[in-house]
Formats: sequence, C-alpha cells, structure tokens
Amino acid sequence: MSELQQKVEQVIAVLTEATHNYAPIIFANSLGAEDMVLTDLINRHKLDIGMFSLDTGRLPQETYDLMQTVQTRYSNSLQIYFPSAEEIEKYVAQNGVNGFYDSVELRKRCCHIRKVEPLRRALRGKRAWVTGIRHEQAATRSNLALSAYDKEHQMQKFNPLLEWSNAQVWEYIKQNDVPYNKLHDRFFPSIGCAPCTRAVTPGEDIRAGRWWWEAPENKECGLHAGKVVLIK
Ligand code: ADX
Ligand code: SF4
Repeated sequence: MSELQQKVEQVIAVLTEATHNYAPIIFANSLGAEDMVLTDLINRHKLDIGMFSLDTGRLPQETYDLMQTVQTRYSNSLQIYFPSAEEIEKYVAQNGVNGFYDSVELRKRCCHIRKVEPLRRALRGKRAWVTGIRHEQAATRSNLALSAYDKEHQMQKFNPLLEWSNAQVWEYIKQNDVPYNKLHDRFFPSIGCAPCTRAVTPGEDIRAGRWWWEAPENKECGLHAGKVVLIK
C-alpha cells in the first residue's frame, strides 16, 4: 500500500469512528485544496457528515466558481452561511469598506463578523466538527491533534489531514480528478478573502500570501483560536 493510500485509510477510519461517537458532525469547508480532498473522501465513502462554507462576502470569484461546482458535482449538500448584514453595515460605516487594512484589531474584528460569528451558528447543535488543517501550514498549527476537545465551541474537533504533506494533498487531487480552485494554478497556495490574499513567489511560505502585511503570529482569523485540550 502506498503512503498516500495508508493516509487515506487513516482518514476514513478516523472519520467513520467520529460519525459513530460524535453524531451529528459537520465539516467546515473553505474549498481550499485540503478541504477538496475531504469533500471528495466524505462523498466517496458516503460518510454521514454534513458540510458548510462561510461566505464572507469578500471571497474571490474563483472560490464562488468552485462552490458552484461542488454543489452540482457532489451529492452532499453544501450549506452556505453569511455574516450578519447589520454588523457589516455598522463596521463599514465606522471603518470603511477596506477598514481591515488599518490595524490588526480592525482586521480581527472584520474576521470576527464575517467568519467567527457565522461559524458559531454553523456549529450550533453539533457534537463535533471537521477541518482541513495541517501541521505544516503554520507555526500556530504545529501542536494540534488529530482529535481534540475544542473548548471554545464545546465540542470535539477533528483535523484528519493534520499529518498530510502539501505534495500528498495534490497527489490525491490529481489521482482522483478532484475539482480545485483555479487560483492554486496562479501561485495562491492558501486562499481566503480576496482583499487579504495575494500570490506567493517561489520559495515563500505557503501562507505568506495571507494577511501579508501582518506578523506571522497574528495570521489567524479566529476560527481556530480556541485552546485545544488533547484527549487522545
Ligand atoms: S484561516 O483560519 O487561515 O482562514 P484556513 O484557510 O487555513 O483558515 O483554513 C483552515 C480550515 O478552517 C479549513 O480547512 C476549514 O476547515 C476552515 N475554514 C477556513 N475558512 C473557511 C470558510 N470560509 N468556510 C468554512 N470553513 C473554513
Ligand atoms: Fe475581513 Fe479580510 Fe478577515 Fe475576510 S480575511 S473577514 S476581508 S479581514
């Protein structure tokens, strides 16, 4: 069995066990490369896991194109969550449409309104959630576990691709003809909102294009900010 095949088997085992012990369980799908691997695996193996995307209102067109493809190609429905219109209107009136460039605090406030609060709604009533986080992505992600209690959201959190390399993610995508965001072909390894994501140059870190004007230790949007407590 190839190393990739072993990793695929491990993901299926982790997620299958999760569906037995933590139903109802939901997958947070950003439509990034890792999340397209999980979308494909969850659908292919008919795992009883729902999925949702947070539409911040500032995503690149290429992400919306992929969202549409996922909705037509896969049988699992993709539920889309939007931020509160009232909160956005207030923020924009006070800080301007691009106020997030002005300070780390205003950037985090924008992420809070557009991502963190909608995430809370998306997770309501669930016993566990699944993400596409990998160790290699960032210093802030090096001490996470495959399965851990997420205190912030008071539920179990699964990061089944934690130990996958970037090359393995792409090997799976190519082998299985999985659709992916066209921006990946234009040197965007990690994709978030359009105004906060740029292309990287050869040799740059894969997350160098996210909030590129901020120091690396700030580069989290708050979706994964809660402290995790290892149970396994
Ligand atoms: S972020 O915190 O920097 O924005 P990143 O893009 O690396 O996160 O994604 C890490 C994981 O967070 C994804 O695999 C996914 O599970 C979740 N996630 C991030 N953005 C979204 C989104 N817009 N909708 C749903 N889930 C998301
Ligand atoms: Fe706002 Fe940028 Fe955060 Fe998107 S990534 S929610 S535009 S600050």
